[in-house]
Amino acid sequence: MKVLITDPIDDAGLERLREAGHDVETAYDLDGEALLEAVADANALVVRSGTEVTEAVFEAASDLVIVGRAGIGVDNIDIDAATEHGVIVANAPEGNVRAAAEHTVAMSFAAARSIPQAHARLKAGEWAKSDYLGTELNGKTLGIVGLGRVGQEVAKRLDGLGMDLVAYDPYISEERADRLGAELVEFEACLEQADFLTVHTPLTPETEGMISTDELELMGSGYLINCARGGVVDEDALAAAVDDGTLDGAAIDVFAEEPVSPDSPLLDVDDVVVTPHLGASTEAAQENVATSIADQVDAAFAGEPVMNALNAPSVDESVFPRIRPYIGLAETAGKAPPNSSTVGSRTSRSPTRATSPRRTSNSSPPPR
Ligand code: NAD
Ligand code: MLT
Repeated sequence: MKVLITDPIDDAGLERLREAGHDVETAYDLDGEALLEAVADANALVVRSGTEVTEAVFEAASDLVIVGRAGIGVDNIDIDAATEHGVIVANAPEGNVRAAAEHTVAMSFAAARSIPQAHARLKAGEWAKSDYLGTELNGKTLGIVGLGRVGQEVAKRLDGLGMDLVAYDPYISEERADRLGAELVEFEACLEQADFLTVHTPLTPETEGMISTDELELMGSGYLINCARGGVVDEDALAAAVDDGTLDGAAIDVFAEEPVSPDSPLLDVDDVVVTPHLGASTEAAQENVATSIADQVDAAFAGEPVMNALNAPSVDESVFPRIRPYIGLAETAGKAPPNSSTVGSRTSRSPTRATSPRRTSNSSPPPR
């Protein structure tokens, strides 16, 4: 089976696929027609955030069985189109959570202590000791928007550093927030109380632009950290808020458009610390997500359950039309906690096919 990989993944994933006997092709930085040509005879496509997997890709790739996302966010994949074409979309939702949480902590300190700015000046030969008076995280309030896998790991780490925690997440229970020592509050209260506001939602129609001028004004001061997805925070509004002193600073790992344009206003404001989408860029995280996706591609080819399939039911296609009306109901009733995996059982040994949309990390789950 041919596996096309269009964003770099760890060698461990490539080796696992080759050991399983698959024909692995890597082709990076493909766009438009070049991507459509390369994917035409592929049975699996493996991507990170760099490849836009649009409807045209599914139309061009008639033998495609699975699109594997070596990471969490699937906002670059048209899951509805995948489903229409019977293609499974699977991600690796666990492997880079700790890396993303650690990067968030690092970015919080970087912004609070102006580490990149001081570093750059010292490297340029300037001893600017008296120009930097930082802020301690200890004793400050951390507002967490989105208390899912990454948000929870950030909560644990920053709670340990003496921060008070408030969180806004309309889809989790108070009990879960309590267990983390966080108070679940309304969005406005989260903004008002936070000295540091950290964003950990997926990018969805609901979250796109959810933090803009009005929300930054509600914060009034402090720091905004976004290691989740560009587009959740309005970049022009954020740059203006830091520039005019509404906020003390910001730290941004993700951008609405990536690679970010050199003209982005965020790059012009000194108190905005930036990294080029490095949240998941640790050796361990990359090995985890690459091997997880390799295993899922192999499972899909073998007709076995695909652990983190986001749109594949675990029944034969012939049965599916009869159960379709009950799926939404059953899913809501039986929504599992976010740390558990969705594993289907199958009755045939042909490659698994997607036949129904399932809730994804791109959609808002029911309250749990
Ligand atoms: P997750 O699905 O486990 O958690 C997301 C949380 O956001 C959920 O608890 C959900 O209820 C909540 N949420 C959804 N809509 C919301 C809304 N409107 N308001 C408030 N909360 C809302 O996802 P995760 O694994 O924790 O990942 C979080 C984000 O971090 C994703 O966007 C993911 O793509 C991104 N991420 C980035 C990097 C990186 O390299 N920078 C690495 C890993 C993850
Ligand atoms: C993710 O959603 O997993 C991250 O954005 C990591 C990445 O692909 O670099």
